[in-house]
Amino acid sequence: IEEKELEIRDLMDELPVKIIKILKEIGAIADKSQIRAYLIGGIIRDLLLGKGNNDIDIVVDGNPVELIKQLSDFFSAKVLYNEQFKTGSIKFADGLNIDLAGTRRENYHYPGALPEVTETNIFEDLFRRDYTINALAVALNSDKWGRMIDYFGGQKDLAEKKLRALHRFSFLDDPTRVIRGIRLASRLKFDFEKETEDLAREAVLAGDFSRLTSERIIKELELLFAEKINRRLLGLIKNIPVFKLLGIELAEGVDYWQQSTRLESWLEYLKEKNYNIEEWVLRLALFTDKLKKKDIVDWNLKERYKDILSFYLTARDLIETLDNDLDDLRLVDMLNEYKLEELVILLVKSGKVMVEKNIRRYINELKGIELAISGFDLKELGLNPGPVYKDIFDRVYRARLKGEVSTHQEELAYVKELLKERME
Ligand code: CTP
Repeated sequence: IEEKELEIRDLMDELPVKIIKILKEIGAIADKSQIRAYLIGGIIRDLLLGKGNNDIDIVVDGNPVELIKQLSDFFSAKVLYNEQFKTGSIKFADGLNIDLAGTRRENYHYPGALPEVTETNIFEDLFRRDYTINALAVALNSDKWGRMIDYFGGQKDLAEKKLRALHRFSFLDDPTRVIRGIRLASRLKFDFEKETEDLAREAVLAGDFSRLTSERIIKELELLFAEKINRRLLGLIKNIPVFKLLGIELAEGVDYWQQSTRLESWLEYLKEKNYNIEEWVLRLALFTDKLKKKDIVDWNLKERYKDILSFYLTARDLIETLDNDLDDLRLVDMLNEYKLEELVILLVKSGKVMVEKNIRRYINELKGIELAISGFDLKELGLNPGPVYKDIFDRVYRARLKGEVSTHQEELAYVKELLKERME
């Protein structure tokens, strides 16, 4: 393969001043240590696309330890160093992150395995990567500053908006790359190159990924669904059934475009109202119509997320009941036990106007109303705990809903009034 070097000094000048300063320093340290240092990966892709990126990935063809040490001294910054992989990362308070590693080759012993890493040259380091547009490197040493290495036609694919895998086994080695690809395609509005898309689909359908952990897949899905769903993403997951990696089957006949548009506008609305919503789980939950809790007991995932993901299948009766005219108290009784995320799933997926109306009313007007009085107050008034407590709370609650009482004092006075009536 012919090495193609291109001069992109001018483009490098467009990076933020702080980043340029760091890269020059890295180049200078590398000069002194007589090793070659390269800027690599997503930041170059985004530079060529005119997009900002705060993740600096550096590789050196040699031992990175000295570079990592000197760089952290220079910036008086703390380094996380991984002895086994000889990689380090420096995090700055403003969100800037530098990852440093030696050039390495990765050998995958079985599909989806974590790779065995050996030292190698820059060519092989680039060749082990996922897509051509991510396999570009720019030299940082002073004699070569700003020279871009493009062995695999990454620049052409960038210009043609194409995602192209570097080799046939890329997705078998690491199927999480399929999800990364869908994320990139959907974010950058790129298409998969035809053969790459076929390889991705075949890998997902045919691969034996039983040893790939759900944790790694979910980590990628979390990144995928941190971003808004668009039509391109929906087209891609239809073509490349990537949820199969988790054993998730999409439902037939569901209009996911309509549902995701509704979801996005609800997420927007709830954000405005300062509700703290975990967006990625909800976006993923759009596609888990058929997921049962028992299917995912083994996943290394918060119980709360498992509940949300497996909620829809269990909600048939609830939807039926919600499809009626309900008074406030009944509505509150029914819905108080559900998570906001679960209610949003119903809003988006039930497809029933009445259900939506009820949940909207509950979220906007009723949710979060808590009585100021408690069982303690009733005890103070000489009442023994029992069904009478619920009776009283319901009455006070109604009074609250009607705006007749609002403070602790008023609620207490209202209870005393109730008790007096009872005595009479
Ligand atoms: N990479 C890979 N296979 C993976 C993960 C990462 O080949 N499963 C490679 C990609 O070439 C990527 C580089 O490692 O460019 C660094 O990974 P990461 O920082 O996760 O990706 P970026 O492209 O820098 O980040 P993003 O896509 O989120 O902007």
